[in-house]
Amino acid sequence: MAEAPERNLALDIVRITEAAALASARWLGRGNKEAGDGAAVDAMRVSFATLNINGVVVIGEGEKDHAPMLFNGEHVGKGGLSLDVAVDPVEGTNLLAYGRPNAISVVGVAPRGSMFNPGPSYYMQKLVVSREARDVVDLDAPVKDNLTKIAHALGKSVQDLVVFVLDKPRHEKLIAEIREAGARIQLQTDGDVAGALMAVDPRSEVDVMMGTGGTPEGVLAACAIKGMGGQILARLDPQSYVEKEAITEAGIDMREVLTVHELVRSDDCFFAATGISGGDFLHGVRYSAKHAVTHSMVMRGKTGTMRYIESYHNMDRLSKISAVQY
Ligand code: FBP
Repeated sequence: MAEAPERNLALDIVRITEAAALASARWLGRGNKEAGDGAAVDAMRVSFATLNINGVVVIGEGEKDHAPMLFNGEHVGKGGLSLDVAVDPVEGTNLLAYGRPNAISVVGVAPRGSMFNPGPSYYMQKLVVSREARDVVDLDAPVKDNLTKIAHALGKSVQDLVVFVLDKPRHEKLIAEIREAGARIQLQTDGDVAGALMAVDPRSEVDVMMGTGGTPEGVLAACAIKGMGGQILARLDPQSYVEKEAITEAGIDMREVLTVHELVRSDDCFFAATGISGGDFLHGVRYSAKHAVTHSMVMRGKTGTMRYIESYHNMDRLSKISAVQY
């Protein structure tokens, strides 16, 4: 049945990621990840309070890093649509603190009850590909087989592929297997939400993301992947005995392979990301005499519409009226 255009919440939530990026960008390279994160959290809190939503934070931030929090279970918004909310005010706190590329601010929203709740799980294994390769990947297949099938689906050779991998000791074997298969690698210290976005964005040189990263980051990435039409395959991958025990106690199945549809069980989801430090996929916050300039991407799951937004924020005027310190 034909539908009239509905409100696109991504255009509301991008103002939240813009505010968090503007607030935290002042901490670029200053070696203080708590301060940068704290500034972004405060800006997000103030901005959420302006939204006509009845949101519950399902993916909050900070427990793993003991950082300042938008608490899991916290209600955000001033009433309206019942939503699950996923936030990462600064995704890549170290990237921000040390002035490295691809620190971004991220928010995803979806109807209440539709987001996967990580419970006590901090880490999950992930495999992310774009729309063309979404039906050929298998989390349990050897790395070489997956890369061969992905390359075929993309009409490339394995040697042409770029695989995004977090540069962590746990990935030693994975990296060796990718090299053995002949593919190229983009190794980054942090930021696998950006890695996942690059893997599904045809404009990026990254073709696939592999490896273990944060579980909350996997759900956030899934909000965007829904809109972009790619695939994320994921499975909880506890990195300590304590984490494993907590997941078992919570009765969560650690063997289950979760797809984008289990991580976010509705197409009616929205996603926004704003660059904090500059990367090849989103520019960082830039300052001119009068303006601060932000660069964001926004996505609506139902239609798959993706927008890139460049915003010019008049800092003189903002400083007079804004409750957030920029
Ligand atoms: P933070 O912004 O919380 O520092 O997370 C950055 C990040 O690199 C994520 O992108 C990734 O999912 C996770 O940390 C990996 O965790 P770890 O650094 O503990 O391996």
